[in-house]
Amino acid sequence: MNNTDEIAVAPSVLSADFSCLVEEIRTVEEGGADFLHLDIMDGHFVPNITFGPIIVEAITKLTSLPVISHLMIEDPKNFAERFVSAGSSLVSFHWEAYHSGHEKVIDIIRNLDCCTGLAVNPDTPLSKVEHLLEEIDCLLVMTVFPGFGGQAFMPEVLEKIELAARLKKERGYRYVIEVDGGVNSDNAPLVRKAGGQILVAGTAVFKSDDYTRAISALRG
Ligand code: DX5
Ligand code: ZN
Repeated sequence: MNNTDEIAVAPSVLSADFSCLVEEIRTVEEGGADFLHLDIMDGHFVPNITFGPIIVEAITKLTSLPVISHLMIEDPKNFAERFVSAGSSLVSFHWEAYHSGHEKVIDIIRNLDCCTGLAVNPDTPLSKVEHLLEEIDCLLVMTVFPGFGGQAFMPEVLEKIELAARLKKERGYRYVIEVDGGVNSDNAPLVRKAGGQILVAGTAVFKSDDYTRAISALRG
């Protein structure tokens, strides 16, 4: 994972026009995107269904950008491997998917030489995941409840981003802090100031008139 001071932008294709996805991906690549963020929803963990590993594989073949698969699914242990095989550079799963045993999923992803990410919902405090922080490459802090693009950013999560950044610094953790949900050019300065390193944006990029400008505005 890119763990420099530079801010990275990861457009979420959930808000792209799937009838011309090739063009949409090319435009964000040319517009300076650093990653593609793919939202995988199973209709159980979240009340929405998107797509699975077949589409992820097709997208990884369409792009030279590293692909982040954000698994919003009930049983990531059984599916993580398929998203790694599909060509993801980072596979993130939700802490809320299990009561315990998260280490197993982290091991599965890591043993396949893929970067491991742990996602936390807006109401999950970092104290719940503290024992896992040393193990992960990415902490995905949700600033909306997962399930849909186009929701409003929850500013109350900024404190958690600050805490994640502080813990990372104090304890030397390697994770990058990815922030996802309602991120736009208005709140991006706050997200960056709090310590967000990868800014995910669906609506703010794909619903804008100028993807290049939108990506630059997020990066600041
Ligand atoms: C929400 C997804 C997000 C979402 C981002 O469940 O995980 O990645 O697509 O879209 P915007 O930027 O529109 O909130
Ligand atoms: Zn996402």
